[in-house]
Amino acid sequence: MAEETQEIKKGLAGVVVDYTAVSKVNPESNSLLYRGYPVQELAAEKSFEEVALLLWNGELPSEAELTEFEALERANRALDSNVKAAIDLLPTSCHPMDVCRTAASVIGANHALAEDSSPEANLRKAQELFAAMPAVVAYDQRRRHGLAVVEAREDLGYSANFLWMTFGEEAAPEVVDAFNVSMILYAEHSFNASTFTARVITSTLADLHSAVTGAIGALKGPLHGGANEAVMHTFEEIQSTGVAPQAWLEEALAQKKKIMGFGHRVYKNGDSRVPTMKAALEKMSAHYQRPDLLELYSGLESAMGAAKNIKPNLDYPAGPTYHLMGFDTPTFTPLFVASRITGWTAHIMEQAASNSLIRPLSAYNGVDERHL
Ligand code: ACO
Repeated sequence: MAEETQEIKKGLAGVVVDYTAVSKVNPESNSLLYRGYPVQELAAEKSFEEVALLLWNGELPSEAELTEFEALERANRALDSNVKAAIDLLPTSCHPMDVCRTAASVIGANHALAEDSSPEANLRKAQELFAAMPAVVAYDQRRRHGLAVVEAREDLGYSANFLWMTFGEEAAPEVVDAFNVSMILYAEHSFNASTFTARVITSTLADLHSAVTGAIGALKGPLHGGANEAVMHTFEEIQSTGVAPQAWLEEALAQKKKIMGFGHRVYKNGDSRVPTMKAALEKMSAHYQRPDLLELYSGLESAMGAAKNIKPNLDYPAGPTYHLMGFDTPTFTPLFVASRITGWTAHIMEQAASNSLIRPLSAYNGVDERHL
């Protein structure tokens, strides 16, 4: 058996592959900056629409720029009939991430500028996808529950309208705020697996929708975006069996299970986004009068700290927050998609502007050369 002797960086751990000006993750100072701004400040002060423009353009929008974008976003919320038809072809039993992936692909195939990857076309496509994805997510949650479609409302901002289209009623302002915070926190995180996937696809000069479709596939897995859904399954399992979080954890760790919503490849002393998202969860727990979820949250967090000294990541508070808002569990990762479209597309445009084909090497460890 041949085995070449190069040093292998399994999982690309610790490998720096390129520059980015979109965001800076600093595990030492436990901080995350979007275009230089701490994400906590953005979550406290800004709308998701403003943060999207910041990620795409590099600067926060002026009032006029924001007004112009809000008009574009509101005008592009409705799904084309062929996108709805494509979703309707999928079984209601399929995972909502499959629906998002299919919808992104169909929207791309239908696009008048499908093969145009100029900066102007890419920005336009990014903004239209941003506007359309809430309708995809809401449409799918409602169809799975046999509910009629709720059309978008142009008098509501992005987050209020997202909740309106999903639930058919206006959400309380504090719920809209918490949702807005979650969208901002999920928007961008440098070269994570799905963003890197989008950059790899873009590096071949493929179009933006191909890159986003691939990124959605990468986000689906439970080691990445799928963890917010998996956290809720853990909570439900603990609540339904009635065991204490510590006892549940001991059993899970004895079976060598990964505990979803804990750990991070980059942060080892805690995820910089968690305190802000946990504060949103606390507000939602008070709003919906569900202290039980908060108790469970703290119980499992303490048990995991004591057992492994591993801290929660963003998915840990986000999962129960979305549950309290009324989203069904399979919809949690699609909510991550709706948010991360901003970061993915900012990276796609950055990759396209300074492209080099991403093509790493491998070391061969197969059979030695042989002949027929
Ligand atoms: N549960 C149990 N043990 C864990 C966990 C966890 N969640 N995370 C890390 N560990 C342990 C590993 O078992 C390993 O222990 P060992 O050295 O004794 O074998 C050690 O910590 C290092 O773990 P790795 O998996 O090698 O670390 P890596 O950097 O590759 O993993 C990852 C990062 C994949 C996120 C991991 O922590 C994990 O699987 N977490 C659960 C999934 C999750 O929550 N993903 C969401 C990521 S954040 C996001 O998408 C917003």
